[in-house]
Amino acid sequence: MDSRGPLALALILWFHCYGALSCPVRCTCHFGIQSIEAVCPDAALSRYPSDGLPGNTTSLTIQFTNLSSVSAQDLGATPLLQELHLPGNTLSSLPEDLLSALYYLHTIDLTGNQLKELPARVFYHAPLLNLVLKDNRLTSVDVDWLPTNSNLTWLDLSGNKLRKIPSALLQRLSHLETLHLSQNLLEALPAESLHSLYALERLYLDENKLHFLDAKAFSHNTNLTHLFLQRNKLQSLPATVFHGLDRLQYLDLSENQLTFLIPGTLGLGISWVELTFNPWHCDAKIEYLWKRLNNMAVKSEVKCASPEPLKNKALAALTRKELGLAD
Ligand SMILES: *[C@@H]1O[C@H](CO)[C@@H](O)[C@H](O)[C@H]1NC(C)=O
Ligand SMILES: *[C@@H]1O[C@H](CO)[C@@H](O)[C@H](O)[C@H]1NC(C)=O
Ligand SMILES: *[C@@H]1O[C@H](CO)[C@@H](O)[C@H](O)[C@H]1NC(C)=O
Ligand SMILES: *[C@@H]1O[C@H](CO)[C@@H](O)[C@H](O)[C@H]1NC(C)=O
Repeated sequence: MDSRGPLALALILWFHCYGALSCPVRCTCHFGIQSIEAVCPDAALSRYPSDGLPGNTTSLTIQFTNLSSVSAQDLGATPLLQELHLPGNTLSSLPEDLLSALYYLHTIDLTGNQLKELPARVFYHAPLLNLVLKDNRLTSVDVDWLPTNSNLTWLDLSGNKLRKIPSALLQRLSHLETLHLSQNLLEALPAESLHSLYALERLYLDENKLHFLDAKAFSHNTNLTHLFLQRNKLQSLPATVFHGLDRLQYLDLSENQLTFLIPGTLGLGISWVELTFNPWHCDAKIEYLWKRLNNMAVKSEVKCASPEPLKNKALAALTRKELGLAD
């Protein structure tokens, strides 16, 4: 065999490792035919890994590191980026022009950073479909974060400190299919606040402080299939609040302060309703819920909290007499 063979091979290998197919230290890179993915999971990383990052990287993940800042210039070196995942770092702010050179970016995930306030047009420049800001410290949301013609389908703002539904921004998001607002400090759901969300299918409002839902809160969200309202402070529900939600399959009202439901509250189409851990008061006023429980295909185990003789009894199993209803 020609002795130049191994040398050529070594050169090709060297070229692959240090030439075109480079990868930053502390990162791993996957070179696909259509995509280049870089993943940097090293806790000791504290600066943006510019050196060696392939210019045509399409997906970049920097997670659980000490990274505390990222600039438009950093990201501008990889203009083909489609996905940027930055969960579990120490970012406390972002520059307004961060995404200005990213014409293909459809997903940005900033879960678990320390973001408190963001500049007005921070996500304006990229054609985003998925925006994840879960588990940060946001107290407010700016209407101009996204452009008026945004095609966003997934927005996750759960685990922040929002006191109000960010209705002005939501007005722009007529393509939104999934909205996460769980684990915030929301107190009310006024009429109009979700009116533009015609495409919305999944709405997560659990673990807030909601004590009030306007009767028309969901009236335009007729594509809803899943609605999560558990772990709030709802004491009553307007009878028509779920009316018109003909595609609703799952409704979670567990762990609220409900004592009875007004007749007609649960539309007939809903196939699964979670109602556990509410202080249901089992007297004549609960007749509607009792009847619904007895003719719903699937039902959660609803127990009475009061009056004392019926405490912890399963509502569905009670008799008319026990509920004080006329025969
Ligand atoms: C990325 O760039 C390198 C070097 O120019 C090239 O060899 C490779 O084919 C490119 N990959 C993609 C997915 O465009
Ligand atoms: C993280 O970065 C800060 C400064 O930004 C530095 O003081 C600290 O030592 C770094 N921690 C680790 C684990 O590298
Ligand atoms: C949303 O999609 C439409 C149609 O594909 C496109 O014309 C528009 O530029 C997109 N909007 C943004 C902000 O990318
Ligand atoms: C509602 O959902 C269906 C099925 O997912 C979809 O085809 C339709 O476009 C949606 N409606 C709106 C207004 O987005």
